[in-house]
Amino acid sequence: MTTRTNQQVVLVKRPQGAVTDDCFELRISAVAELEPGQALLEVQYVGVDPSIRGWIDERGSYFAPVQIGEAVRSSGVGVVIETTDPVAYPIGTVCTALTGWQQYRVVTVGEFPPITPVAEGVAPLDAMNVLGQIGMTAYLGVLDVAKPKPGETFVVSAAASGVGSLAGQIAKLEGARVIGIAGSDAKVQWVTDELGFDACINYKTQDVNARLKELAPKGIDIYFDNVGGELLDVVLRRIATRGRVVLCGDISTYDTDSEPTPLRNVKYLMGRRARMEGFNTLDHWERLGEATIKLAELIANGTVHRKDDIVEGLQHAPEALLRLFRGDHLGKLVVKV
Ligand SMILES: NC(=O)c1ccc[n+]([C@@H]2O[C@H](COP(=O)([O-])OP(=O)(O)OC[C@H]3O[C@@H](n4cnc5c(N)ncnc54)[C@H](OP(=O)(O)O)[C@@H]3O)[C@@H](O)[C@H]2O)c1
Repeated sequence: MTTRTNQQVVLVKRPQGAVTDDCFELRISAVAELEPGQALLEVQYVGVDPSIRGWIDERGSYFAPVQIGEAVRSSGVGVVIETTDPVAYPIGTVCTALTGWQQYRVVTVGEFPPITPVAEGVAPLDAMNVLGQIGMTAYLGVLDVAKPKPGETFVVSAAASGVGSLAGQIAKLEGARVIGIAGSDAKVQWVTDELGFDACINYKTQDVNARLKELAPKGIDIYFDNVGGELLDVVLRRIATRGRVVLCGDISTYDTDSEPTPLRNVKYLMGRRARMEGFNTLDHWERLGEATIKLAELIANGTVHRKDDIVEGLQHAPEALLRLFRGDHLGKLVVKV
């Protein structure tokens, strides 16, 4: 019998409206004995991901809801410290997985999304960001769905988020003119001064419709939408003929139990022969390898940049989730376990 104990942040109450920190508790439990085909990951970093908000709701999303008393589901990276399948999971292998907000995670061969070994030389924090699911989402969303052409106008919301900041940089490399939309002057400054976006609008202090009209007088060819809701409706009003709207996320609707804003401006899509398309990275998991190789090159030669906001200690994960929905961070929020 193992004597190892597991510190976990568990869900004790489902949020009603905006998430509050009393929805979570820090608990200690025993680590289960490994069965054949399993390994034990010692978790190094866990993500504070927008998707967590959907997973802790009763209605669930593309995964079953996290149960009361269960560790909060999240992305993460860890190292194999015990194994019953040394071929699949050799000791010392660093892997990304849905580790959850906990110190240890038992992983099983064949689970989905797969436990993905991190390539040699890739730092765990890179694997949580540009060289992991964030990178893959931006890469596939831009290159496979949006497909920007040189000279096209590409607008991205949550422009300073992990996905948004990278999507804008990739679109720029494809020759598009990139306009961000973000929630603070510091974020606006980061994406324009450091990431090379052509412009960025602070949606909390500026009239987005008026600014888009000024910055994109001929309309928006591509809207990479991370936010949904009212902002999506505002941008739809300005979509160009043959425009494309990539529905990547709708974070404005996650942390509330209000009905989503009606999209009155969908009517403009027909006249302008524009289209909207949703996508989920989980449908394209087989392309993680390709995306990682390409993005690793771009990181190594300094072509793309990213930021992490690192919170120390698992016990601080709930308050980091609250910060995420306030937009009170610059860079991808991760917790060092
Ligand atoms: N389709 C997929 O497969 C897939 C995969 C991963 C992520 N996603 C989606 O991609 C988006 C970005 O994820 P991420 O992990 O990169 O995010 P992130 O780095 O955690 O950043 C999230 C940002 O969203 C903005 N935000 C929060 N609440 C908002 C609200 N009510 N209205 C407007 N903006 C709000 C905040 O920035 P501001 O200060 O600018 O408001 C916040 O900093 C999310 O919608 C996520 O669900 C989709």
